[in-house]
Amino acid sequence: MLLNMFKLFFGTLIYTNLASLKIYQKLNQLQVDFNNFQCKLNSIKRYIMNRIGLFYAPAKGSTERIAKIIAEKIGKDKVDLILVDENTLVDALKPYDKLILGISTVGRENWDAEYKKVGWDFFLPKLDNADFTNKTVALYGLGNHILYADYFVDAMGELGQKIIEKGGKLVGFVNPDNYEFNHSKAIINNKFMGLPLDEDTQEDLSQERLNNWLKDIKTELGF
Ligand SMILES: Cc1cc2nc3c(=O)[nH]c(=O)nc-3n(C[C@H](O)[C@H](O)[C@H](O)COP(=O)(O)O)c2cc1C
Repeated sequence: MLLNMFKLFFGTLIYTNLASLKIYQKLNQLQVDFNNFQCKLNSIKRYIMNRIGLFYAPAKGSTERIAKIIAEKIGKDKVDLILVDENTLVDALKPYDKLILGISTVGRENWDAEYKKVGWDFFLPKLDNADFTNKTVALYGLGNHILYADYFVDAMGELGQKIIEKGGKLVGFVNPDNYEFNHSKAIINNKFMGLPLDEDTQEDLSQERLNNWLKDIKTELGF
């Protein structure tokens, strides 16, 4: 009877210890798996953060054509092309530390009641809720320096102001000496806040302007 009780006691002790060991080993394995998972997650994060988010609008015109040329020149494997539309959320910017934003100036809302909002008309107000801290941003803007000399690439200026207001670091300022215009909201400290392009009347100058600008922003955007 006593022997049986001893057997039962030690048997239970050994069994519980073995079970605890198994649980302990399982927990260790789980910890290793979790660490590996975290490593993979971090490398995916690093991969995305190193990519450049090129957000642009509108579609089908010069702004989109230039977006594609920029992606081609930088390397398509380094750039995500994102067309901004009414559904674009501020969260879409989150994965990117490095951004290129393309915008055209079409000031129709000033004189055309029929004007229908597109792309940046929806997204720009949403940027009030964006945080650009630790983000490096380069801008390009489409305009027409002859027909709209008093408002040349104004929209790029409005976008640039917003980025600065929200803590972003603008790069790729451009000397206005090689442009003819009367006034532009995109000028700050005697420089354009980004690259103005006039595909309507100076198409022949765009390639050289683009190449020089890309050289300027290469290091800061890390491509
Ligand atoms: C109705 C209208 C208004 C425009 N207003 C301006 C303007 O205020 N400032 C400017 O620099 N360009 C202005 N432009 C020129 C456009 O920015 C230019 O054509 C640009 O390439 C359009 O971009 P997209 O082809 O991507 O649509 C205007 C063009 C149109 C058709």
